[in-house]
Amino acid sequence: MIRIQIPATSANLGSGFDSLGIALTMYNQVWMEESDTLDISSKDDVKIPTDENNLIFWAARQVYEKCGRKLPGLKLIQQNDIPMARGLGSSSACIVAGILGANRLLGSPLSTTELINLAAEIEGHPDNTTPAIEGGLVASAIEAGRVYSVSVPVSEKIRFALFIPPFELKTEKARSVLPETYARADAVYNLSRSALMTASLFSGKLENLRVAVQDKIHQPYRSGLIDHLDSVFRLSYELGSLGTYVSGAGPTIISMIDVADTDNFVKYAASHLEEKGITGWQIRILNADSKGAQISIE
Ligand code: HSE
Repeated sequence: MIRIQIPATSANLGSGFDSLGIALTMYNQVWMEESDTLDISSKDDVKIPTDENNLIFWAARQVYEKCGRKLPGLKLIQQNDIPMARGLGSSSACIVAGILGANRLLGSPLSTTELINLAAEIEGHPDNTTPAIEGGLVASAIEAGRVYSVSVPVSEKIRFALFIPPFELKTEKARSVLPETYARADAVYNLSRSALMTASLFSGKLENLRVAVQDKIHQPYRSGLIDHLDSVFRLSYELGSLGTYVSGAGPTIISMIDVADTDNFVKYAASHLEEKGITGWQIRILNADSKGAQISIE
């Protein structure tokens, strides 16, 4: 069987709505081989579709069809460490697993660029799928159906503290509350900050991050969908966050922290949440993943 390891991803980084994303050191694993039947199982107790609606199978079939081949069935085993519907790219991880795995089973007919384009076409935007494939901090844009992207490493001075709530928020719902149009001043506000974010994460200019996460495009509209958002933001800054933002469409909240402050942050974050009566939230400290999806043979 082949094994595909796909990183979690955090899109937007506050200001870079639908255009920035980073890969994180939290992974889903998928084992895959061709089969005459469909045989989908899970290594953990996460509930997954085991029929043709399974997103990995569905994405794999897109690759076979694109290459003029029929996919009769597939043996798939999933291990899902990326929590679902939490703004950490779990559906992108499934899409990427399906297309990268299928491409390998077919002898790698599609180039990385073609895989990146197909993943973004299926997902609808490239800010999770591209870092899941390439790793690192990725800036991307779609023009005439093609993704133009660049992946750069994230400064080793920065770690990512995830506040993962015990509830889900579907991307569709989080997008439905956004306005159709924005004022020019708001667009410029985000443009300047997302450019600042890219250069600051790459160079490690930590003092810029608090300004670079600010945004007027999505977070103000989504904040009402995430219980305790204000308290978690406030707490994170009290504990020394360099910049806190809603990961992707939410509801996970991420603080970028100085690697030197990690122990303190971890020590106090959980107890302070409890003191505020905010229960059931998981706190994870991760690094940026620099490699992206990996395929091996087992
Ligand atoms: N950029 C997307 C959003 C990420 O914020 O809606 C979620 O897929």
